[in-house]
Amino acid sequence: MGASEEHQAGTPYLDALREYAGRDPARLHVPGHKGGQGADEGLLEALGERALALDIPALTYGVDLGPEPNPFARAQTLAAEAWGAARAWFLVNGASQGNLAAGLALAHRGEQVVVQRNAHSSTIDALVLSGMRPTFAAPELDPELGIAHCLNPETLRRALELTPDAAGAWIVSPTYFGAVADVRTLAGIAHERGVPLIVDEAWGAHLAFHERLPEHALAAGADLVISSTHKIVGSLTQSAMLHLAAGSLMNEQEVDRAVTLTESTSPSSLLLASLDAARRAAVTGGRAHLSRTMDALARARAEIRTIEGLDVLDERLVGRPGVFAYDPLRLAIDVRGVAASGYELAPLLRELDDINLELYGQNVLVAVFGMAERSLTEAGRLVRALSAAVAKVGVEPAGLHTSFADAPPWGELAMTPRAAYLGPQEVVPAEHAAGRIAAESLATYPPGIPNVLPGERLTTETLAYIRSALEQGGSVRGASDRLLHTVRVVVE
Ligand SMILES: Cc1ncc(COP(=O)(O)O)c(C=O)c1O
Repeated sequence: MGASEEHQAGTPYLDALREYAGRDPARLHVPGHKGGQGADEGLLEALGERALALDIPALTYGVDLGPEPNPFARAQTLAAEAWGAARAWFLVNGASQGNLAAGLALAHRGEQVVVQRNAHSSTIDALVLSGMRPTFAAPELDPELGIAHCLNPETLRRALELTPDAAGAWIVSPTYFGAVADVRTLAGIAHERGVPLIVDEAWGAHLAFHERLPEHALAAGADLVISSTHKIVGSLTQSAMLHLAAGSLMNEQEVDRAVTLTESTSPSSLLLASLDAARRAAVTGGRAHLSRTMDALARARAEIRTIEGLDVLDERLVGRPGVFAYDPLRLAIDVRGVAASGYELAPLLRELDDINLELYGQNVLVAVFGMAERSLTEAGRLVRALSAAVAKVGVEPAGLHTSFADAPPWGELAMTPRAAYLGPQEVVPAEHAAGRIAAESLATYPPGIPNVLPGERLTTETLAYIRSALEQGGSVRGASDRLLHTVRVVVE
């Protein structure tokens, strides 16, 4: 173990919790279950006494209060060092909170922002909270797979030219499907114009821990990075981090205030401890675990490709528009050669061997692997179930599922997402909605790029496109009426 790894081998916050619970303190504070004694028996049995004993409130002396740097501050500093950030914040409301905080911090710099169109819904929520006016930049669409990849640098350059007063640019990398953006070039383009690049790296918290993986966003020059530590690195669900780069164009105090504003005053100590521990595990054992996981997934990919009708997404995607690199921790399976869609295969896999996938669409199934899975038996189990599923449904004689037509252009942004969200609203029949301003998002899957966002004027073409996508078996997310009989619009 090298000097820096030795330094990273401790878990100051987790240790402080254990120390507190271990000395039988008088718990004259919340939570009311008092270390488990007052908890429901079923919960106590399910979680175990130790978990409840460690569930303590914020501002506990010796944990996150007391002589500086206290254990909580030391844990966040170790996390910043581990990812190469100037500062890291532990988040207890997921990467969603990271996006909300990033938006509020960015709004200090101006009223406009360039945003990748297929950003996570929490980024759109951040626009609602902050009141910023977005210029949307379209990700590259893969016409064969029917999925969206990352943002092309030229697209960002054009969007920033169209938005001379932009406070910053906000992109997503990696995608759900493993495509990684050319963050270094994108950051260069943003910085040429003097604006920060925010990267929603919810799916890439592990990238910092292996040289065979694509470069992570902070190393590539991003100013602020949202990291969903629970997704692949292995902290508890809902825990995440926000990383500020050294020399960032974002202001540290503004980010700090935004994190506080979007956070409970009672952050879960269990979630925070899991971040401290996941950081230690990633630094000290992450590289070895990642090597094993990547090797096991490479074998699983090779086996899946031998099943007639199936293919996998892998580094062969690199070089396609919007794919600068590929993150192999996602096992994405191309099912276009099978006589059933991803929507039909996913429940079949569940029936066959209780296989529960992260995501599935018309053409692609996505299985997620953690960076440090002790036993990788799931990969073989998935391969066997896929083989049985294909044997059952057969292969597609034509070879390819019908592809979806290009979506019509987005409607004019008639008001900010915030104004549309807060303004007076009504629900109207979809056939009367053209020309009205949407108060909700409508995103057809596949490929999941929003066709309509709050504040945009609905067009006849877009409504017809969504209807036809629904008729072909697609779905629409964000809509209050998922069958699109009605749409929520702004009263003008
Ligand atoms: C790109 C992206 N950003 C943010 C999030 C939100 O993450 P969390 O569930 O940790 O709040 C997700 C969730 O899937 C995501 O895919």
